[in-house]
Amino acid sequence: MTDKMRAAVIDHYHQVDPEIRLVPQPVIHPHDVLVKIRAASVNPIDTKTMAGDLRLLLRYRMPLVLGSDFAGDVIAVGRQVTAFQVGDAVYGRPQKDRIGTFADYLAVDTGDIALMPTNLSYEQAAALPLVGLTSYQALHDLMALRPGKKVLIQAGSGGVGTVAIQLAKQLGAYVATTTSAANTAFVQSLGADEVIDYHRTDFATVLKDYDAVFDMLGGNTLERAFRVVKPGGIIVSVSGRPNGRFAQTYGLPLWKRGVLRLATRRLTQLEKVSGVSYRFLFMQPSGQQLAELTTLVEQNKLVPVIDRIYPLTEIAAALTYSRLGKAHGKIIVTMTE
Ligand SMILES: NC(=O)c1ccc[n+]([C@@H]2O[C@H](COP(=O)([O-])OP(=O)(O)OC[C@H]3O[C@@H](n4cnc5c(N)ncnc54)[C@H](OP(=O)(O)O)[C@@H]3O)[C@@H](O)[C@H]2O)c1
Repeated sequence: MTDKMRAAVIDHYHQVDPEIRLVPQPVIHPHDVLVKIRAASVNPIDTKTMAGDLRLLLRYRMPLVLGSDFAGDVIAVGRQVTAFQVGDAVYGRPQKDRIGTFADYLAVDTGDIALMPTNLSYEQAAALPLVGLTSYQALHDLMALRPGKKVLIQAGSGGVGTVAIQLAKQLGAYVATTTSAANTAFVQSLGADEVIDYHRTDFATVLKDYDAVFDMLGGNTLERAFRVVKPGGIIVSVSGRPNGRFAQTYGLPLWKRGVLRLATRRLTQLEKVSGVSYRFLFMQPSGQQLAELTTLVEQNKLVPVIDRIYPLTEIAAALTYSRLGKAHGKIIVTMTE
């Protein structure tokens, strides 16, 4: 008989709060490790998944254990695993169809994990995988930021923004960011060169000739970003609509590509008029990139930012706080019993 573990589970979309209950412990595949999770982070993807908002990209069978990144200890290894051993402290972001980090245990492919930075607690390490990889893939892979480039990072005080500002500075870029006035000193301490209070000033009226915008907000804010970027520049959004180009690369079926192409006609038009390229990013797990983040953290070049820490038993409160969209850095959930 399989052993049981605690997990935060939903049984259907639009469920108000997850239920914490006992479920079977996961079984490991040959390339997996079994991790005793110590901490996980809350990401807006958790509440969006609960609301069914991402069903075009992510369709889950229920019941579903929530949670998309973690830090913990390897307690068993699959028979093909050589890179990790029992006792390793690791962190990671599992593949989208193998999520479930708001739980005591997770089976995860070794390609999706890395050794945890030695100078971080489990709580701090859990703050990094999803937002760290998102920022890395946007700023490094898609924008290819380098010294002298100017980038606007929207929502610099949020989970993604707090890491993105630091990574952009590491890549040598000049960084403008938006947040509330009260967070000015906070985002400056992360490296922001220019801070715009989004309540008072429209960034599109004060910034121009930027090389890139990293958009965390979508909608009208995303459309206004086209005014800030110079021809040949790039806008990467993690909150705007996925466009046809993304749908094709992501391998979505033809009907979904058609739906997304129609829904993003305005963005395609803005691309043509401005000469700026629009890319939707859906971050991908990568143990290799996470290992690069580990190095940056151990060199004190990247510091995770934690807003609040909740025990697993208070997962509903943690998700409610995330829904407010006011977090400064990350919301963490710990699995201590
Ligand atoms: N596609 C992907 O792969 C991917 C990956 C990661 C994240 N995302 C998405 O990216 C978005 C951001 O994620 P997150 O984890 O950073 O969220 P978050 O931590 O909840 O963001 C909260 C922050 O956003 C700021 N904010 C809210 N409205 C703003 C505005 N109009 N202008 C500037 N700042 C504003 C808030 O600052 P104030 O307190 O000052 O209002 C707060 O600090 C979410 O929609 C998430 O789903 C997508």
